[in-house]
Amino acid sequence: EEDHEELNKETLEKQLQALPRENGWDGASLYLYKGFWCPSFAIRGVISSQTHFKAHEADIVLATIPKSATTWLKALIFSIVNRNRYKPEDNPLLKASPHDLVRFLEIDHYLNGAPDQNLDQLPQPRIFATHLPYASLPPSIKESKCRIVYACRNPLDNFVSFWHFVQMLEREDMQNILPIDEAYEKYCHGYYGYGPFWDHILGFWNMSLKEPEKVLFMKYEDLKGDVITQLKMLANFLGFSFTVEEEEGGTIEEIANLCSFENLKNLEANQKSSRRNNFGAPMNSFFRKGEVGDYVNHLTPSMVENMKKLIEEKLAGSDLIF
Ligand code: A3P
Repeated sequence: EEDHEELNKETLEKQLQALPRENGWDGASLYLYKGFWCPSFAIRGVISSQTHFKAHEADIVLATIPKSATTWLKALIFSIVNRNRYKPEDNPLLKASPHDLVRFLEIDHYLNGAPDQNLDQLPQPRIFATHLPYASLPPSIKESKCRIVYACRNPLDNFVSFWHFVQMLEREDMQNILPIDEAYEKYCHGYYGYGPFWDHILGFWNMSLKEPEKVLFMKYEDLKGDVITQLKMLANFLGFSFTVEEEEGGTIEEIANLCSFENLKNLEANQKSSRRNNFGAPMNSFFRKGEVGDYVNHLTPSMVENMKKLIEEKLAGSDLIF
């Protein structure tokens, strides 16, 4: 058995050696794997989760491109499905990071390729996060009846958020971090973790049109604009609709307030800069500014104009606008 595993590892490493590579913004490698740029810290987990992960019908999968409301939706989904399990003052979100309560498939549960043996012991319904594009999800997620919530964000803000986030990372495989104008060039070519954004967004967008019971498509900007309406839609989609009593009793507002940027950011678990996750992000790096349109403070007018053109061109014909 061990020999067999060694052999598999060897084949895998050979397979990885053969993939096209680019340098990411932090100097670490990105692999072009099935059409997207996979960070080196995730690639083994991606391949392993594709091979081993078995979805259950009741599972919930949160898919995002990094820096598009992952943290927020982890907290919101966790709160919606567990709202009758805890008294408000005992909500685990008060003590733990959303990233500890809802973990990433490829970078937590299958980190470096070793499957988590305890997936069946997770609380029901199981909630998983992933940054994988639709086309590269483990087949069992696509084939089972489990639900997928997808969230994205205006690429201009997404880029700015990403760039700030990279400044806070620390990993052994990192080199020098690129200045913002060079990172911008890379972003526009799709060279960053899980890029390019257009394939990522369109993959889930198209599935949400084709199978609306399977994929719910959400935007950071809509959540910011009217969190209550979005929460109702999300709860309905998940099969955890709010009752009239809950609506009248303020349950939706309670969840929105608990998961608000201001509230989560100031909790001790989310302020820790000394604790880092599996890809070198300190726990406080997931809360920066939490606003729509911050790109104007960081990009030149010509960068903005060029990216707007790119967004229009790449999303043309989709009815999607940012
Ligand atoms: P900014 O860098 O623009 O502030 P992700 O969670 O996908 O990693 O994305 C992080 C972005 O979402 C950051 O954006 C972060 O500040 C913002 N964010 C995190 N939690 C949030 C919340 N509860 N409400 C609104 N925005 C939040």
